[in-house]
Amino acid sequence: MSSDLEQTGLPEGIQEIFRLDGQRAIVTGAGSGLGRAIALGFAHFGADVACLDVDVEGASATEAEISKLGRESLTVGVDVRDWESVLSSAREVEAWADGGVDIAVNVPGINRRKPVLELEPEEFSEVLDVNLRGLFHCAKAYGGLMVPNGRGRIINMASIFGLVAMERQAAYAASKGAVVQLTKVLALEFAPHNVLVNALAPAYFTTPLVRQIMEDRDWYEDVVRRVPQGRFGEVWEVVGPALFLASRASSFVTGTTLLVDGGWTAA
Ligand SMILES: NC(=O)c1ccc[n+]([C@@H]2O[C@H](COP(=O)([O-])OP(=O)(O)OC[C@H]3O[C@@H](n4cnc5c(N)ncnc54)[C@H](O)[C@@H]3O)[C@@H](O)[C@H]2O)c1
Repeated sequence: MSSDLEQTGLPEGIQEIFRLDGQRAIVTGAGSGLGRAIALGFAHFGADVACLDVDVEGASATEAEISKLGRESLTVGVDVRDWESVLSSAREVEAWADGGVDIAVNVPGINRRKPVLELEPEEFSEVLDVNLRGLFHCAKAYGGLMVPNGRGRIINMASIFGLVAMERQAAYAASKGAVVQLTKVLALEFAPHNVLVNALAPAYFTTPLVRQIMEDRDWYEDVVRRVPQGRFGEVWEVVGPALFLASRASSFVTGTTLLVDGGWTAA
């Protein structure tokens, strides 16, 4: 029998595979919602976290919470639509992250929920500029910090609407579908450098991004009816899936999109 087949033992430290002690993470979009929850969650599991956002006030509020946990943190203003801005943020984080960046979570996203016949071409571009081009900028700049070091994790924020459709989501669904595909290409290109790239695909979570839906009773109830678990996700419920993709727990996982959707897409 081959010796490979006899390797049934678990590795040393298996009980620590979700820990991020000593790691340096970049969370772009850390000023609000899911990005803020992920930044704080990673800090609770031992990571130092650079908080990037176009909303500098929001990012520095997250930084303050992380510092209270005894972890190192940093606020960097960045507009992901602007390549020069993302490059300059990468330089700032590189100087901070002595020994290299281990994790980058690319979160920023916006939406313009309108039927196609009412959606202006400029609005379509606005969504694509943040959700797709912005994410490409982040993956390129922060991935560029990891590849030469031969280690890293990238987590891209997609959505269930990258995989299934819904009315009034033309720009958003197009952008998130592209994020799913971009994630696969990045995974293929970066795997030889031990940089693993995956995406998260949440259904609705209670954040400022979905205020429009939460404030419209009929719309809200229509959404909830589509979720087998019968509710929106709470922001903290994205932390576990993100932690899985950031940690040693997912050391043989790349190019995948992890659904966090209360069963929406199982139906
Ligand atoms: N909330 C949900 O129900 C839900 C569901 C699926 C996917 N998502 C995705 O999760 C991500 C976060 O959503 P959220 O609900 O936490 O939204 P949010 O509005 O609470 O947070 C988004 C953050 O991104 C930042 N941002 C926006 N444009 C930016 C730019 N140009 N440059 C830098 N930062 C920018 C905002 O300032 C904000 O801090 C998005 O990609 C969204 O599409 C959210």
